[in-house]
Amino acid sequence: MHLMKWALLGLMSLAVPTPLARYRSWHELTKVPRLVPYVASTACMAPSTPITNPHEDRWIRVYANQVALEAMQAQSDFPPGSVVAKEKLLRADGEPEGLAFMIKHGKGSFIKSGGWEFRFYPSDGAPLADERCGACHRAGGGRDYVFAKLEAGH
Ligand code: HEC
Repeated sequence: MHLMKWALLGLMSLAVPTPLARYRSWHELTKVPRLVPYVASTACMAPSTPITNPHEDRWIRVYANQVALEAMQAQSDFPPGSVVAKEKLLRADGEPEGLAFMIKHGKGSFIKSGGWEFRFYPSDGAPLADERCGACHRAGGGRDYVFAKLEAGH
């Protein structure tokens, strides 16, 4: 089962560039998959994603790379190089149906979204970058566009 998981992830990572595809080796902020209501779970996908079944909730897992983790520990804004990844899963033990990334760039890039580049990779279909991602994350009230927080014990 474990092997199969990685094999599938390998297929998916064809579309995801290598440094991002390693997100499972980063620090997992969620510890265990977290259930989110379906409507909330559609937020970080392509706006055109058809709603198949509004009663079908999703699970998420959130990962931070080392740079992002250290910023969270220091409770500071995220420096360039920070990456936060979110897996969307149909089942807690299933394969991701989509991967969302936030990538922090240096001064002068992605100015409209505070230096953050937002990318969504569906398990099939073309990757997506959308300005609406940043607008919602800015308004969301988290620290420096990021909703996720360090859980106790990190
Ligand atoms: C309408 C609001 C909204 C939009 C639009 C949105 N998000 Fe999010 N996003 C959220 C919320 C709320 C969370 C935290 C809860 C959760 O993860 O489900 C979140 C979490 C995330 C996370 C995990 C890090 C964090 O901030 O907790 C990533 C990565 C992410 N979103 C990427 C994206 C991408 C990429 C897009 C655009 C394709 C996008 N989001 C669009 C509301 C939004």
